[in-house]
Amino acid sequence: MSNVIAMDGPSGAGKSSVSRIVGSKLGYLHVDSGALYRIMTWRCLEEGVDTADSSAVAAFAEKVEIECVPEGGRIMYLVGGEEPGDRIRTPEINAHASEVATVKEVRERITSILRGLVRFGDLVVEGRDITTAVFPDSPARFYLTASAEARARRRRKEEVEKGIANQSEEAVKASLLARDAIDSTRKYAPLRKADGVVEIDSSDLTLDQVVETVMGALPDGWRKA
Ligand code: DC
Repeated sequence: MSNVIAMDGPSGAGKSSVSRIVGSKLGYLHVDSGALYRIMTWRCLEEGVDTADSSAVAAFAEKVEIECVPEGGRIMYLVGGEEPGDRIRTPEINAHASEVATVKEVRERITSILRGLVRFGDLVVEGRDITTAVFPDSPARFYLTASAEARARRRRKEEVEKGIANQSEEAVKASLLARDAIDSTRKYAPLRKADGVVEIDSSDLTLDQVVETVMGALPDGWRKA
């Protein structure tokens, strides 16, 4: 059976960087579950599906085909044979993804895709409901958090560096908080800190310190000698 490291937390808490590094240290495939919600959102917007109409989103989501391929230490997603890349990282997608993620059928479809990835081997999976709903029985579950200010600063830096957007820190923070609110109050699989998870507040920690904390909390035998 494959080992699964599950990591949840709000946007900008550092889940992607941490899980990518932990994955590469251990030889586990990195799985970005948020990208699947972003792909669904991107396809809805492209096809003119109203993301506020949950029945329309549910019917459409069923038809979106996403191919999962292990590649370069991560699971790569292909839509129509192509990687969506930064097309799923725009402020417009940010603004609609949480809404699409409230739809039960979308969550069921993505949960089933994620669970199926264990066929490729050991995984480190990051998201909002990985520790609570997708892999709740994993013995390595983490909740990564940080202050809203720290998260907005990081997310803005990332957007500017990638040339995706150049919004003020205030605007980025407002968008993060709006998504947090939807993600943590939705009916199905809301973002919450589950019992028994290891919580790490990364506000005043370096990336290396967070990675070390995660590595140190893994079950015996999961760390390489
Ligand atoms: O991590 P991210 O910002 O790329 O996630 C995009 C959206 O998808 C976010 O608004 C919450 C949602 N999401 C979710 O509901 N469950 C997950 N496991 C991952 C992401």
